[in-house]
Amino acid sequence: MHTIIEPFRIKSVEPIYFTTRQERIQILKQAHYNPFLIKAKDVVIDLLTDSGTSAMSSEQWAGIMRGDESYAGSDSFFRFQHVVNDITGMPFVIPTHQGRASEKIIFTILGGRGNYVLSNTLFDTTRANVEFSEATGVDLLCEAGRDPALEAPFKGNMDTEALLSFIEEKGAAAISMVMLTLTNNSGGGQPVSMANIREVSSICKQYGVLLFIDACRFAENAYFIKLREAGYETKSVIEIAKEIFSYADGCTMSAKKDAFANIGGFIAVRDEQLTEKCRNLLVITEGFPTYGGLAGRDLEAIAIGLREVMNEDYLKYRIRSIQYIGEKLDVYNIPYIKPTGGHAVYLDAKRFMDHIPVHEYPGLALCSALYVEGGIRGVEIGSVMFGKRAEDGSLISPPMELVRLAIPRRVYTQSHMDYVTEVVAEVYKQRRRYLGYRITHEPPFLRHFTARFEPV
Ligand code: F0G
Repeated sequence: MHTIIEPFRIKSVEPIYFTTRQERIQILKQAHYNPFLIKAKDVVIDLLTDSGTSAMSSEQWAGIMRGDESYAGSDSFFRFQHVVNDITGMPFVIPTHQGRASEKIIFTILGGRGNYVLSNTLFDTTRANVEFSEATGVDLLCEAGRDPALEAPFKGNMDTEALLSFIEEKGAAAISMVMLTLTNNSGGGQPVSMANIREVSSICKQYGVLLFIDACRFAENAYFIKLREAGYETKSVIEIAKEIFSYADGCTMSAKKDAFANIGGFIAVRDEQLTEKCRNLLVITEGFPTYGGLAGRDLEAIAIGLREVMNEDYLKYRIRSIQYIGEKLDVYNIPYIKPTGGHAVYLDAKRFMDHIPVHEYPGLALCSALYVEGGIRGVEIGSVMFGKRAEDGSLISPPMELVRLAIPRRVYTQSHMDYVTEVVAEVYKQRRRYLGYRITHEPPFLRHFTARFEPV
């Protein structure tokens, strides 16, 4: 049989509310053309994020009931800790309420003015936390990763030559850490190869620089290694995951992604002194070390989800279902980052909306079009999210203008995705009808969440 089916049955459902095109034009205007400001009930298919939007399994819901809500020494914490220890091999585990809370703690300790955090690509919250500590985030993505049309197996790899010369130039003492984002969310959900992780690790060891992994989508990355890297075909995903973490000194994770949890995260590290410093900050802002920012029930759901995500029937379906969307877009030659990534399809808005200049935010224009035509909510990953202002106020834009259609885990079916590709194709046919935007209001950090826009 060729059809790869969803490896689950649906036990509980939520309604989708339908709106008309005319209603959506009004809703978008009221939301100041920012998809983050649209009410969820006004969205038909919500592809804003794969974060915290997963359908939990019946086992996870059972775990929710089992959660031990003791303030200190909760049983749920020990089950959670055991799973994280097992997968990462790291002895110290610090629960947090989500990924950015882990980042805030780590970069408060290891960031700071004059220091650099080097990465394949830092995600928005990670970069914001690095910059908030007054350190500088530097993305050193391999060349293949910067070419959206190129088909290559590991476009999330770090450019190791650039890494070496950066360390040589600035000196190892100025590097807070290297952080590898698995998979590379801002660059197409593309995986990093084991060879690259190994090489980055050996450079870090040579210079005494810490290596951390942003492990949000570690299982999707591990599965890509199994599919695409010689020598890993017969290894299990857990073996691959263990090898990945074996090269690192620590990791941060948002459990809202590959752990299928609706909230949660953690830091795991090998160093006891660093753990001590993390826990000191944790108790001030998150909570006692055995619950962090979470309820016992959340720790249970994460512990179960971390095991479930490594199920290979699930990962096969997951990666294949994203690829399926890409294949449908290929029929119309719609430009997107090739190959499709682990959790999302990234439309190449620069080529899709090639009549809209970058300073008029082609990605945002594409998001608006998808919402108006089909009620689909995607997210711009381009000059709105990562653009900076030069001293004269002009825009310094990132290398790519993308619209990410992130697929929540175990939530939508194939017919939902058929609808999505139909809407994208329709928008593509009529793309010249859509115009650009200007910003009318923006906050200093993570402006994409709350900025307001108006059509040019
Ligand atoms: N690192 C990566 C690679 C992420 O994708 C995210 C979140 C975080 C860190 C922060 O985790 O949300 O739990 O604080 N990404 C979400 C997204 C928001 O839509 O891609 P968080």
